[in-house]
This record gives sequence, C-alpha cells and structure tokens, in this order.
Amino acid sequence: MASSSSTSMTLMISLLLGSFMAATANFYQNFDITWGDGRAKILNNGELLSLSLDKASGSGFQSRNEYLFGKIDMQLKLVPGNSAGTVTAYYLSSQGSAHDEIDFEFLGNLSGEPYLLHTNVFSQGKGDREQQFYLWFDPTADFHTYSILWNPQRIIFSVDGTPIREFKNAESEGVAYPKNQAMRIYSSLWNADDWATQGGRVKTDWTKTPFTASYRNFNANACVWSSGSSSCSSSSSSSSSTSGNNSWLNEELDSTSQERLKWVQKNYMVYNYCSDSKRFPQGFPPECALNNST
Ligand SMILES: *[C@@H]1O[C@H](CO)[C@@H](O)[C@H](O)[C@H]1NC(C)=O
Ligand SMILES: *[C@@H]1O[C@H](CO)[C@@H](O)[C@H](O)[C@H]1NC(C)=O
Repeated sequence: MASSSSTSMTLMISLLLGSFMAATANFYQNFDITWGDGRAKILNNGELLSLSLDKASGSGFQSRNEYLFGKIDMQLKLVPGNSAGTVTAYYLSSQGSAHDEIDFEFLGNLSGEPYLLHTNVFSQGKGDREQQFYLWFDPTADFHTYSILWNPQRIIFSVDGTPIREFKNAESEGVAYPKNQAMRIYSSLWNADDWATQGGRVKTDWTKTPFTASYRNFNANACVWSSGSSSCSSSSSSSSSTSGNNSWLNEELDSTSQERLKWVQKNYMVYNYCSDSKRFPQGFPPECALNNST
C-alpha cells in the first residue's frame, strides 16, 4: 500500500513536472542572454524576456539555434515615453565578414513622436539596402508581432501579419542571396544617440533610465542547422506549440498580401534605397527592379 502510493506519488510528480516543462518550452530553452550584466532578464517562468539600457550599458540575447531558412515570429513591446537615442535591434545574422543578415531596428524618439522601423538585408557582407517605415500604431503601448519569413525564394518582413517589405531572390540578376549561411536570432537594446534619432540631433535623456523593451511569444517554424545539416520543425515559447508544417518554405505573397504591402509602402514607408536616385546616380541596384511593388 505504502509502496504503491509512493509510486503513484512519483508518477504524479513526474506528470506535473512534465506539464511544467511543456509550459516552459520558452526563452530559457531557446535563447541565451549574452551581455548587459544583469540588465537582460528572463521572467514569468520563461514566457517573457526584458532588455534594459542605462548610461553604463545596454543588453542583449541570442538564439541557441542557428537556422537556415525559417518563419520566425516574436512579439515586442518597445521602450515607452522618451526613447530618443535608443535602438532596439532584432535581427538574424550569420558570422564572418561575408555574412548574411536580415534586420529589424527600432529607432526611438521623443514622447509622442513616431518610432522609425529600419530594415536592411545583407548578403555576402553587402548591405546598403535600407527601407524605413513608420508604424500604424504605437509600438510602446502593447506587444506586436514582428516576423521574418526567409525561404530560398524571398525574404518577407511582416508586422502583425501585414507584409511591409519583400526582398526577392535576385540571383538571376547577379545579386547574392542569403541561402548558404545559417543565422542566429539576435536582439539588443543600446544607445545610438550619435545617429539614431532625427539624424543624431536628439540625444538620450539619461534621467529616464532604465529604458526597457520586452519580448514574448517567440515562435519559429524553421530549419535548425546543426553539424553541417539542417532539419526543419517548429519550436515555440508558448505552451500551445502549434505543430507547423513546412509550407512556409515555398510561401509567397497572395494577392491580398500584395495589396497590403502596397498600402504600407504607399502610406508608411519613409525611405527606400530603391528610389534614392541621388545615392545611385549610375542606376539602382539590380534587385530593385524585382522588389519595387509600387
Ligand atoms: C522622430 O520624429 C521626427 C518628427 O516627427 C521624425 O522626423 C523622425 O523620423 C522620427 N524618428 C526618428 C528615429 O528620428
Ligand atoms: C500548413 O500550415 C499553413 C499555415 O499554418 C496552413 O495554412 C496549411 O493549411 C497547412 N497545410 C497542411 C497541409 O497542413
């Protein structure tokens, strides 16, 4: 009797532990805090991550996995109030001088003035492909989902499911495309008041520290790169891990999404390297012909 009840007790404890583990398949499992000396924190049993910045230091984290293609979602809530001078960077990057990189950077602003969402794509070490946007909501009031779809044909940046930018594979035009180097997810909150806000004219107000940005609901349908090969599956920071299929590997924008992309580019895009003729007097980079949706 005693031994059977202790057996069932052990079983119950392991069941409880099992569901606890499942509920915390999360930031602890998927990310490492890499710098900031305690300014980055994983909270709420791993469901929430926060980065902070003060005059002495910013902070950052990176994914444990390296990915070669994926559809990666993260919810971010940006530094509220006077965030001028701060930059919250959230990006994928490989290593080395000929690295590939897919960037979201959120440039802070004075209270009530709009954040600037800066995007870029690097292939084989070459970037210079900036597009910048305002958002159609206050990104500091609540969490919003920022997504990168990266497959062999295209890279699509989305905000709350609305595509804001597409970078198509233009290898046929002689443009290198990120497809051979696995990338990690990185994020950091740091001071860039020499350039970030209104061209560097507005400086960080250090009386407002610490500045804090928060992350939750990481979800990756992605191919994880490990010892020279990749396997594609899904991992999630939430308990209800949606078992994804790999349809994202061929995903493209349907006509509704293309309309929404045009809407964003018409109403919220504030800079596009593909229409900066002063910068490219000899003609636009070859990928621009494929990527200008307007
Ligand atoms: C900050 O606000 C100003 C004025 O509205 C705007 O010109 C600028 O693009 C905004 N963003 C940044 C990062 O400077
Ligand atoms: C795969 O996932 C996508 C998006 O989650 C869904 O729309 C599609 O129906 C799924 N396909 C299959 C075969 O399950």
